Amino acid sequence: MGSIKDFMGNAHRACDELFAAAEETASKNDWERARDLFDRFQRATLHHFKMEEDVLFPAFETRTGMSMGPTQVMRGEHVQMRDLMQQMADAARSGDANAYLGHSETLNMLMQQHNMKEENVLYPMTDQALTGEQDDVLQAMQALPD
Ligand SMILES: [Fe+2]
Ligand SMILES: [Fe+2]
Repeated sequence: MGSIKDFMGNAHRACDELFAAAEETASKNDWERARDLFDRFQRATLHHFKMEEDVLFPAFETRTGMSMGPTQVMRGEHVQMRDLMQQMADAARSGDANAYLGHSETLNMLMQQHNMKEENVLYPMTDQALTGEQDDVLQAMQALPD
């Protein structure tokens, strides 16, 4: 049986790689590739947020009865990260390297702290709360459309 922490931690790593590749190409003003890489990063990240908000967090909240706890904090951070990604998309569209890299730096800090909290605290708590049900939750997350 797979753990939530492993599955979701790997997804964080995959998003990080796309993020770094997009930043690298943007810093070289290679906008055609940067836009493509950023787009893939944004879609992967939004899909990951959807897995958390529509499946994982509700499962955690139902099992633990904690609906105003860590999942609320994570949802709030997703709002901030969605906003920053929108600003990065705008900067990428206009080929504005300064704006893109500025927002990228802010997003990276927020994202690393967010992922650390999930991987060190929330995912282990979720694995514990959902003992024996992880496979169902993993399947439900993977069944979500893009
Ligand atoms: Fe998250
Ligand atoms: Fe996450």
